Amino acid sequence: MDGVKRIALLGATGSIGRQAIEVIDAHPELELVAAASGSQPIEGLAPLTQSGGDLTELLQRAEPDLVLNAVVGFAGLAPTMWALEHGVTLALANKESLVAAGELALAARERGGGQLIPVDSEHSALFQCAQLGEPESVVLTASGGPFRGRTRAELADVTREQALAHPTWSMGPKITIDSATLANKGLEIVEAHFLFDLAYDSIEVVIHPPSIVHGVVRFRDGASIAHLGYPDMRVPISYALTYPERAATPVPPLELRTLEFHAPDTETFRMLALAREAGERGGTYPCAYNAANEVAVQAFLERRIGFLDIAALVEDVLGRGDWQPAHDLDELVEADRRARDLVAVAT
Ligand SMILES: NC(=O)c1ccc[n+]([C@@H]2O[C@H](COP(=O)([O-])OP(=O)(O)OC[C@H]3O[C@@H](n4cnc5c(N)ncnc54)[C@H](OP(=O)(O)O)[C@@H]3O)[C@@H](O)[C@H]2O)c1
Repeated sequence: MDGVKRIALLGATGSIGRQAIEVIDAHPELELVAAASGSQPIEGLAPLTQSGGDLTELLQRAEPDLVLNAVVGFAGLAPTMWALEHGVTLALANKESLVAAGELALAARERGGGQLIPVDSEHSALFQCAQLGEPESVVLTASGGPFRGRTRAELADVTREQALAHPTWSMGPKITIDSATLANKGLEIVEAHFLFDLAYDSIEVVIHPPSIVHGVVRFRDGASIAHLGYPDMRVPISYALTYPERAATPVPPLELRTLEFHAPDTETFRMLALAREAGERGGTYPCAYNAANEVAVQAFLERRIGFLDIAALVEDVLGRGDWQPAHDLDELVEADRRARDLVAVAT
């Protein structure tokens, strides 16, 4: 590298993608060499661009130093695997690929020998705290979403618009619904399991409405290190793109205030408990959880099902199959498809 980091940005038109472009534009040592979207036109954004199609072909041509995978959903699997397999640094926002592919992704990283830097704010926080020692256990914080404190009965009739009104983060529609059901925190439990090689009972979730503390790592000597900051994705994006430097961002320094924490209500927000169960069962249970959730969230966004149906459908899918481990990507893709089909017929 001649001091310039060549970046391929996948999901360039999304919430993370747009903020990543802002970060890249502010740093001359970061060069956007390739950009991709799902379907929106992006010609001219980078020397190489692509809308839809095989993302690994674009990466092959671009020869980046770093891939920022900000695609939403299982569609991000192929570029995640490509970067890990080729030893190219992967800045990962697309948590769904790591949740679904877990062991296969880690095996690819082992073979490729490259770096995997989380962009998810909580995991970026934990990654930064973990520079100080081996984590014994971690705490993931959750804002609780727009329906924090509600009962199940009060959630039966909530609308798409109410679910999309997140109190602290402005994000794409899929992750915003995931934040309302707490599936997002569920996916993050599995993500933390694979990123930090932690048993599920060493990964705690607490509700922290202001989203100021992003993560806490507990060490064996009784010390805990927390990462604090305003909820602004430009911070973890900048950290991942400029790692191991810590580049400046326009985000103001934090003013301390009273911070509150509560236990999550896993009876009302079933998606959190279901993710933990799926993670503990292993195999392709996390893949099935993710796939069923993606299809159910889409159906909710299209007003074909109610809010509580999302968890009911996912629970049904997890109970229906024997979600055996996938030995290769073909078997993983097949498990994903099977779970999607099960939800599709029910919606
Ligand atoms: N937003 C956040 O603050 C945040 C925080 C933490 C983690 N994340 C994670 O980051 C990822 C992206 O989230 P987001 O909120 O930025 O989503 P988003 O705003 O919905 O953007 C999704 C991006 O993915 C592209 N895309 C969709 N399907 C694709 C496909 N089949 N092939 C290629 N590109 C495709 C979209 O392109 P088109 O515009 O052409 O459809 C768009 O650029 C998710 O995994 C999410 O969980 C997001």
